[in-house]
Amino acid sequence: MCGIVGYIGNQKASDVIIKGLERLEYRGYDSCGISYYDPNNKKFVTNKDRGRVANLYNQYSYPDNNHYAIGHTRWATHGVANQNNSHPHYSQSKRFIIVHNGVIDNHKELVFKYLNDYEFISDTDTEVIVNLVEEFSKKLSIEEAIRKTISLLEGSFAFLIIDTENIDTLYAVKNKSPLLIGESDKGIVLGSDVLAFVNYADYYYLLEDNSFIIVKRDNGNFKFNLYDTIGFDLEVPEKQKMDFVTDELGKAGYEHYMLKEISEQPAVIRKIMSQYMVDNELKVSPEIKAMFTDIKKVYILAAGTSYHAGLIGRVYFEEIAKIPSEVFIASEFAYNEPLIEPDSMFVLISQSGETADLRSCLINVKEQGYKTLTITNVGSSTLAREADQYLNIFAGTEIAVASTKAYVGQIAVLAILANTLSKQHSLDLVSEMSRAAVSMENIIDKRDYISEIVEQVIISHDCFYIGRGLDYFVCLEAALKLKEITYLNTMGIPAGELKHGTMALIEKDVPVIAIISQDHINNNTRSNLEEAKAREGTPLIISLDNTSKGNDDIVLMDVHRLLSPLVTVIPAQLIAYYKAVELDYDVDKPRNLAKSATVE
Ligand code: F6R
Repeated sequence: MCGIVGYIGNQKASDVIIKGLERLEYRGYDSCGISYYDPNNKKFVTNKDRGRVANLYNQYSYPDNNHYAIGHTRWATHGVANQNNSHPHYSQSKRFIIVHNGVIDNHKELVFKYLNDYEFISDTDTEVIVNLVEEFSKKLSIEEAIRKTISLLEGSFAFLIIDTENIDTLYAVKNKSPLLIGESDKGIVLGSDVLAFVNYADYYYLLEDNSFIIVKRDNGNFKFNLYDTIGFDLEVPEKQKMDFVTDELGKAGYEHYMLKEISEQPAVIRKIMSQYMVDNELKVSPEIKAMFTDIKKVYILAAGTSYHAGLIGRVYFEEIAKIPSEVFIASEFAYNEPLIEPDSMFVLISQSGETADLRSCLINVKEQGYKTLTITNVGSSTLAREADQYLNIFAGTEIAVASTKAYVGQIAVLAILANTLSKQHSLDLVSEMSRAAVSMENIIDKRDYISEIVEQVIISHDCFYIGRGLDYFVCLEAALKLKEITYLNTMGIPAGELKHGTMALIEKDVPVIAIISQDHINNNTRSNLEEAKAREGTPLIISLDNTSKGNDDIVLMDVHRLLSPLVTVIPAQLIAYYKAVELDYDVDKPRNLAKSATVE
């Protein structure tokens, strides 16, 4: 979702902003823009439009001596993606310029109450913020005007504000949307993600909600002060070293990040094993184990792909740890809370650790006094910091919008957690996970074969994945992958459910892909596939060595039944990938989607 970057320093600010925005592209966006101070003409210049960040480089030139700028990638919420709605936005008199990430829920009421005389150029809620600052600055200092504005805003927001009459100061506010500060002796950079700081900061600071930041150029030095939104000083958080391996952020010779990330999955499993290995066993820490003492029920909350990992986690909690569990989609749980049983606790799963739907659940269940554990790929994220404890999945930065390696990382960590809680340590996870990593590698090495299958089989506008039990949960993920990057209408269906309605959609050439990794339902799923074949659907079977029969299309090396999702998902990810490549779509940045969903 929207990304923001701001900079004051002695480097070329437009470079810092545009490179930073490129690093934030993975979040998903449809338009972008920059405002910088041009000292030669003594004025601010703004370039913005629908389209890619690369256009900000290709279509404009920037003076070498520009040292103050803000920039934005916009994922449309209020108003379509066009130039008018792109950020930065100016206040009516053009004195103030803003970039904003988040949603202001009460923007209409605020216009009605305070801004009747203002004309709005865009359809965005952001223009309301900048005009409120302008309105209040008529009677108050700029700092007070911003504070008063914040006190009126309802919703989630992180924004940067330029006062064009003061080119040595940049104002920033953070509440519920992400914002961090990066620092080097060459300047201060602000951004929605630490990735935006790569090459431009040596250290970074994580900020709490309700922070008001004032960045100043002062005699060739650069510094920031932190306040709460009332005006009291805030303690500066501990500074963190930027320790990114820049290689990790490149494509390493792959054509797309998605293929690179699919190929990294066996390494992610091995990394997780090395991180959780204690005395030759895979375990979570005693503190995390202790959280589950006397817990009678686990509620798992997540969204999208992480929700699909959660469905598998529920099976692990019940089958391995013998703790009854339920899984909820975060945005549903947030506003339709079920009756929660006493002695329950919450496990939140999120690759980014920033998903707004999940955060609102976290705040809510914490207020009710429940213990919370986050499973995430980003240890510095909001959900990691705000839950009682967190478990890292160590998947490394995931850049492609379609999540792949985070999904297998989440499943592996859920298996380790459940096995640690099991009284009998029922799974020999060290050898089973090692075997799974080899099986994953095996199919990734044969990916050209999958690309051939895709050409022959996925030729209709619809596609169906069918499976039972764990296989069904993988079908949900398989369908999400295919639809999100190929825009083909795809569904994951419990195999036995096909005949109860969806079968009406099966006709000649419609692919029906069965995932069969569980011996006890092998014949049942095969019969359901026969029913689809009888309606001229095109069948395709993904099975394991020990469930395969005759000439199944994709046969994977055997793994433990419970770990099969780690492996069966891979051909599905590759099917989605190769189809999107064939259709010539932007694989890593599918339309309309954001990597980090920071609005509810
Ligand atoms: C799909 C995908 C999304 C995310 C979802 C939750 O490929 O990536 O469905 O899984 O937006 O995001 P996180 O896991 O960051 O909370």
